[in-house]
Amino acid sequence: MFTHQLKMKKLLSFLAVAAVAAIGNAQSVKPAYSVLGKDTICQVFIYSPGDRAGLHLAYLDDNDRWQDVGQLCSSDYGRWGSEKRMYHPFVLHASDGTWRAVWSVNDYAPCIAAAYSEDLITWRPQDYPQMSVQGCRKPIMFQMEDGTFDIYFHSDKGNRYVHASNDFRTFKEDEEPSTIEDVVWTRDTATVGGKHYEGNLFDIPKLHLSYINDYFRALGADGIMSSESMAQDSERFKTLTGLKARVTVDKAQTKAISDKLVGVFFEDISYAADGGLYAELIQNRDFEYNERDHKGWSPSTAWHSPKPIKIATDNPLSKNNPHYAVLATDTLQNEGWDGIAVKSSQQYAFSFYARNLGTDKKQLQVALVGDDGRELAKAKFKLQGEGWTQYRALLSVKADKNAPTESLHNARLVIVPKGEGEAAIDMVSLFPQDTYKGHGLRKDLAETIAALKPKFVRFPGGCMSHGDGLDNIYHWHHTIGRPEDRVPDRNIWNYHQTRGLGFYEYFQFCEDIGAEPLPVLAAGVPCQNSSNNACGYGGQQGGIPMADMPAYCQEFLNLIEWANGDPATSKWAKMRADAGHPAPFHLKYIGVGNEDIISTPFEERCLMICKAIKEKYPDIIVCGTAGPFHYPSADYIEGWKFAKEHHNIIDMVDEHYYESTGWFMNHLDYYDHYDRKGPKVYVGEYASRTRTLESALAEALFLCHVERNADVVSMTSYAPLLAKDGHHNWNPDLIYFDNTAVTTTPSYETQRLFSAYSGDHYTASTITAPDVPANRLASSVVSDSKTGKTYLRLVNALPVEVDFEVGGLSIPTGSRITGFSGLPADKKTETVTSSVTKDNHISLPPYSVRNIEI
Ligand code: AHR
Repeated sequence: MFTHQLKMKKLLSFLAVAAVAAIGNAQSVKPAYSVLGKDTICQVFIYSPGDRAGLHLAYLDDNDRWQDVGQLCSSDYGRWGSEKRMYHPFVLHASDGTWRAVWSVNDYAPCIAAAYSEDLITWRPQDYPQMSVQGCRKPIMFQMEDGTFDIYFHSDKGNRYVHASNDFRTFKEDEEPSTIEDVVWTRDTATVGGKHYEGNLFDIPKLHLSYINDYFRALGADGIMSSESMAQDSERFKTLTGLKARVTVDKAQTKAISDKLVGVFFEDISYAADGGLYAELIQNRDFEYNERDHKGWSPSTAWHSPKPIKIATDNPLSKNNPHYAVLATDTLQNEGWDGIAVKSSQQYAFSFYARNLGTDKKQLQVALVGDDGRELAKAKFKLQGEGWTQYRALLSVKADKNAPTESLHNARLVIVPKGEGEAAIDMVSLFPQDTYKGHGLRKDLAETIAALKPKFVRFPGGCMSHGDGLDNIYHWHHTIGRPEDRVPDRNIWNYHQTRGLGFYEYFQFCEDIGAEPLPVLAAGVPCQNSSNNACGYGGQQGGIPMADMPAYCQEFLNLIEWANGDPATSKWAKMRADAGHPAPFHLKYIGVGNEDIISTPFEERCLMICKAIKEKYPDIIVCGTAGPFHYPSADYIEGWKFAKEHHNIIDMVDEHYYESTGWFMNHLDYYDHYDRKGPKVYVGEYASRTRTLESALAEALFLCHVERNADVVSMTSYAPLLAKDGHHNWNPDLIYFDNTAVTTTPSYETQRLFSAYSGDHYTASTITAPDVPANRLASSVVSDSKTGKTYLRLVNALPVEVDFEVGGLSIPTGSRITGFSGLPADKKTETVTSSVTKDNHISLPPYSVRNIEI
């Protein structure tokens, strides 16, 4: 059941051998199969059945009919929805036996698409080399005697010529239009499924076709296994009654494992930061919202006034925050984040910057007003001069037994200007006095995260790290210093980042909860799903221009200096000290890149950054990336290959996968075959796709096996962490919240159990349970050499009770049991505790997870 991945790997190497055997070391431009004999050759047609369908392969069957085998690859260019299209693919079988494809991505981008494959199955890497003209249509190519390629395409400025290196990594467009005749665009044609298509015809060995067919069959079988769901259990296990199982622990097989296995992934997605963990209660406090953040937004969004709000930009508070509001006589109100939730008898720190616009001294009355119009707290200010000055007051919400809770939960801030003239106002801020450890984070949310006892916190993303286009890449130094000087930006998740929750706050939070900071920054390329820039160039947009890369590499070095340096000698460390943290933050890890497509621009830039870090800070653990999907995705394969080739500067690889519960249950052996000498694994984003106990069980089964492999898997983090109700960019998430309540999911309980009871050694254990599928029960034994504690986790993902008898480990009566159970469809579960009632016997109810502390 768990050997599928291995099988695929075997098939791949089988093909590699077959392909070489078939094509030999052909030096000629056209590979010749004639030596194999007529019966061993078949004809294939490579084409695209539609712009969203990607590249397909069909073969000519014995009845001379074309049969489609499936999709070989699809275009990864640009945004989901509007892009990811492939037009007029042209495929060539190169003289070295590899396959090359070019296509056009749309009719306005200044690029073509190029990809190569060794086996027609895994296409890598996909590059979108930039051209001097927009609208690069119908590219075609020829291979030269020296192995390089001549590519031609149509454009509004005539036909163009591009020369490609034989590794298909460098593409150089001729300055002059090409004079080549249009006749070279003549294509092969075939009728597949009754429709007529243009494409390319090839002869390939039957062995190769059979490998391709096997591959698709294996993929199909994997898909069927991965569709396993606990909803089918009543039928599948209808004859199953209470079970007895034996767990055998083999102390002789104990190995050291990572003591940082379970952490958290924090991304500002679904209002996780502004409006979430960052405790600021005023929305758009900086008047910097704009149309690019979100369609229809402007500097006055979330603010209300009887007349249009006057916004100005001259003589701003900070060049990074150019907009501010101008007050004359009209009231200004802020709606908060879906209202402002306050608590009776609590204090709130109110502040703003203002300046009189003239010689008149304006006065401001500020009040917190409940939903029912009741005034909850107020303060008065007299503005002193014409220069920006910060004003502060503590607003105490009156204890009022008669105030309806709803009214407190939906308050608003009201500013009433008094007196002649006008005043400018900016950075209007309201924080609860009571934040997590006094560091400005919302207490209940921070406590819920802290209760996971995460060993590390990854931040600030996710896709938010690499950003929507080059101009949206997250620059960490834009997020430190005085809040008004930080550089706000649009959030790739379609809202605004104030950067109030910046790198200082992230590092402080890590320290407050005893977790290692794991910042992940862009590898010099934005998200491959980025929208178009002004020239209509989307996706990775060619990456940060090479001329700017030294400065970008320096940003990583500055970060390490800022986090760890000595304020007496380092200007960056001094900024940290000035912000209130003279002691170093002891940064040990840095992530470079977030699930990027492993393109040439990515590889070139990633290497520059990793080299720069390792040259100056060889002890920093550098984490690379392997695309957005697991094996056998091309980015995964190429990302790992790249990391292994550069293991001297890449210590760990970040893997991402969001999958069905069935996938997790049927890939419990996923890490068994990983190379122990290569880079370590960071499973940076994973989750099974329900919000129910079924996911919590599947993830618990999986984590038992991850622990078994925690000599190679160093870190894991469920993703995403937080989502605000009404603002979900993603589902499921680990923790949901609104302005007053926090709701954890069953998966949260799994994370807590594996993180709170963690260790640094793993002892092998096996389960004997006749007649039940092995993927529904799991055990894992970890021990912590620092505390001397041993933990046995048991997972029962069956609809019946299982009585476990444990051998090889002494579990005395009274040992503490922690865990949860329920029904697969339950959206809520809670951890319960009990104790062992009979030495070495533990009974697990249906669908349950237990941790036994020894
Ligand atoms: O976790 C949500 C998103 O999923 C992340 O931003 C991205 O890295 C992944 O695609």
